[in-house]
Amino acid sequence: MTSSLLDMKDIRVSYGHAEVVQGVSLTMTSGSIVTVIGANGAGKTTLLNAAMGVIPSSGTILYDGKPVPGSVEARVASGFCLVPERRELFSTMTVEDNIELGGFLRSRAERAETSAELYERFPRLAERRKQLAGTLSGGERQMLALARALMSRPRLLLLDEPSLGLAPRIVADILRIVSELRDSGVSILLVEQNARAALEIADFGYLMELGEVKLSGTASDLANNPALMESYLGTANAG
Ligand SMILES: Nc1ncnc2c1ncn2[C@@H]1O[C@H](COP(=O)(O)OP(=O)(O)O)[C@@H](O)[C@H]1O
Ligand SMILES: [Mg+2]
Repeated sequence: MTSSLLDMKDIRVSYGHAEVVQGVSLTMTSGSIVTVIGANGAGKTTLLNAAMGVIPSSGTILYDGKPVPGSVEARVASGFCLVPERRELFSTMTVEDNIELGGFLRSRAERAETSAELYERFPRLAERRKQLAGTLSGGERQMLALARALMSRPRLLLLDEPSLGLAPRIVADILRIVSELRDSGVSILLVEQNARAALEIADFGYLMELGEVKLSGTASDLANNPALMESYLGTANAG
């Protein structure tokens, strides 16, 4: 039996009078990558922030079949971790210190064990341990943001456009790491404008348009959907 890890039902979010997420329902099973794709302004970030609890929303969110805790802190403690679109690194601190900070809820022994694993997974960060985060390339910054998130040993990783602004080869590196994380048991909710790349690693996907889910299905069904191909994947400059 596969049970839902995260189950969002009829989620609505308004900014002032504008309802920008208009009754979205989304479900993800444990150990999967679910992607939310859609154009700029579709409401993807807003939906992700509602899942994390950083903005208020209406509707219901179940985590492991139970109502999700209300506060961001309680969600973090129960295994949520958000990597926001603006990576929000501490640019005047070293790579190492940024990573250490991600483990603030963990014991010293757990931090040592997890950071050793992370430096194996991200050799470029190991080489740059003493470098200031602000001097890293875009791809290295995204890797650092991911590594810092992983220090909390999340069960549910919420990723907002990890491919944004990165060269295709770096995007491929990042997404390979994301799919390895899924294989190691982390569940991932992946928001992406780069539909083609996201559908390559996802298990299931939702297409959002103007605050609503327009299409959903297995990642391979979506990747082979002619209408979606045309609007999001078909053009030479897609993504
Ligand atoms: N803090 C905010 N205040 C008012 N409007 C916002 C705010 N954040 C986002 N919006 C609007 O909500 C809509 C959805 O935005 P967003 O969730 O960022 O979309 P996406 O991540 O898909 O690009 C957009 O029209 C955007 O302008
Ligand atoms: Mg966004």
